[in-house]
Amino acid sequence: MENLISLVNKLQRACTALGDHGEESALPTLWDSLPAIAVVGGQSSGKSSVLESIVGKDFLPRGSGIVTRRPLVLQLHKIDEGREYAEFLHLPRKRFTDFAAVRKEISDETDRETGRSKQISSVPIHLSIYSPNVVNLTLIDLPGLTKVAVEGQPDSIVSDIENMVRSFIEKPNCIILAISPANQDLATSDAIKISREVDPKGERTFGVLTKIDLMDKGTDAVDILEGKSYRLQFPWIGVVNRSQADINKSVDMIAARRREKEYFANTPEYKHLAHRMGSEHLGKMLSKHLEQVIKSRIPGIQSLINKSITELESELSRLGKPIAADSGGKLYAIMEICRIFDQIYKEHLDGVRAGGEKI
Ligand code: GDP
Ligand code: NA
Ligand code: MG
Repeated sequence: MENLISLVNKLQRACTALGDHGEESALPTLWDSLPAIAVVGGQSSGKSSVLESIVGKDFLPRGSGIVTRRPLVLQLHKIDEGREYAEFLHLPRKRFTDFAAVRKEISDETDRETGRSKQISSVPIHLSIYSPNVVNLTLIDLPGLTKVAVEGQPDSIVSDIENMVRSFIEKPNCIILAISPANQDLATSDAIKISREVDPKGERTFGVLTKIDLMDKGTDAVDILEGKSYRLQFPWIGVVNRSQADINKSVDMIAARRREKEYFANTPEYKHLAHRMGSEHLGKMLSKHLEQVIKSRIPGIQSLINKSITELESELSRLGKPIAADSGGKLYAIMEICRIFDQIYKEHLDGVRAGGEKI
């Protein structure tokens, strides 16, 4: 199944790369039918921390105020071996191996679009990370929901951010990672409020509880994590990210993850839940869920692909010649995408027939 998710990643990149060139119809629809995971929550709820711990790397801009001002579409690709690197869609063929430089490029590219004002923009930045230490996932980091505009920002920023977040998570194919800090009342959680709005039955919302280590003495999150209060369709996942002091001391992600595991295993209240808590579990669970979603959508994607093949074939026969490998550009790329998809789809079907796995 891994390769199906890789394929979705490829398709998403291809759709984006081709999107600029215009009319060829099926592609935008195809893009919309592919699943991705969006991270939503209030400012400083721990969104960037959760994303970084899923990736196992420091690479997101940080600071107070509205740091994330454009959506970041982050594709994680598991590679078998070799050194990890990152690539931006707007800087093709430039490989980043220094993740501090990735962080800087995200912030520079944000400024390029928003002109250094503290405005927000809904134009996404596309970043791919290739690493042996990730699971295949597409994640979207969104600006944090806020209740008040800070100095220099127009009042409309509150609703602008909310509208932008909503435009991503209202798509039925979007899996919502709703981040809430455990040291605040869940009744006031921005993440829960907006995700309930677009997914009232909680069919595609995963609740993540951050800052469990920062709860007041004498309180704990056991009722929530056991599903006794604020029940969602999927069980809540508690995480312990690095504190600001850890970040200042440059505690690395591996050490942080080990400490997180120890925290759940050694805290009497959470011991019995430890096997389904923490960042590593979150990453694995998301990957598994994404696979299931893709499986359930294969017939839909396939019919879209068929549609574009038909369109392309009539286009080709009108042109009266077979497509050449060097013909370059869009038609060739689309055919390639379709061919790759077709092949993996057939392999998948063969696997289903041979192994009795259900679509
Ligand atoms: P974002 O604004 O939602 O992206 O939040 P960040 O990930 O930037 O986190 C905001 C602050 O909270 C940072 O100083 C983090 O170090 C801290 N933080 C996030 N999660 C946790 C956690 O689980 N425990 C502790 N102690 N601090 C956390
Ligand atoms: Na922040
Ligand atoms: Mg952030």
